[in-house]
Amino acid sequence: MSEEGRPRLHPLLAARWSPSTFDEAAEISTDEVESLLEAARWAPSAGNSQPWAFIAARRGEPDHARLVRHLARSSGAWAPRACLLVANLSHRFVEDTDWDYSEFSAYDLGQAVAHMTVQAHSLGLFVRQFRAFDRDGLAAEFDVPSHWEVTTMSAIGRIPADLVPGAPRGRRRVDEVRWPPPATH
Ligand SMILES: Cc1cc2nc3c(=O)[nH]c(=O)nc-3n(C[C@H](O)[C@H](O)[C@H](O)COP(=O)(O)O)c2cc1C
Repeated sequence: MSEEGRPRLHPLLAARWSPSTFDEAAEISTDEVESLLEAARWAPSAGNSQPWAFIAARRGEPDHARLVRHLARSSGAWAPRACLLVANLSHRFVEDTDWDYSEFSAYDLGQAVAHMTVQAHSLGLFVRQFRAFDRDGLAAEFDVPSHWEVTTMSAIGRIPADLVPGAPRGRRRVDEVRWPPPATH
């Protein structure tokens, strides 16, 4: 709580965490998927360049199987059970050049995915973002051109009602995220 008695963190942010157990019977509606993409769409970006794109597929859809094919052994054990898999793409280069499309394309994609993540939580969904997949294989599978990068994926779903979160989540203290860092003795 703050000194004024407000929670320090918005309840949506406080309740967010990244499960690796999903309810494999749960579903996500097309409306909810649209709402997640809408949240990403409204993220800020440098010069409003919006350097992002998403391959989104619900469990059971043909594109879901195509995404699952490229998961690593680790993510393959839990991500397919989520209702929705999303590949998060950043616009890295100007087509046919090695010039940055935007110096901030990865930064901006991260913000868009953060927006999507918080929107998901507002819908009672949970998100685990992850890197454990074959980037090149997935890019080839979906004909992603080389000036775009498949940067991360998100598994989005519901958690079993009786799921007990695993190990406590750790964070650096607030004074440790301020610059300059606190003096050490
Ligand atoms: C860019 C990025 C890559 C990640 N890669 C993986 C991954 O490959 N496998 C995994 O299990 N979790 C992955 N995570 C999830 C993090 O481990 C998780 O967010 C972190 O431990 C903090 O936990 P919390 O989200 O529950 O607060 C990734 C998260 C981000 C943002």
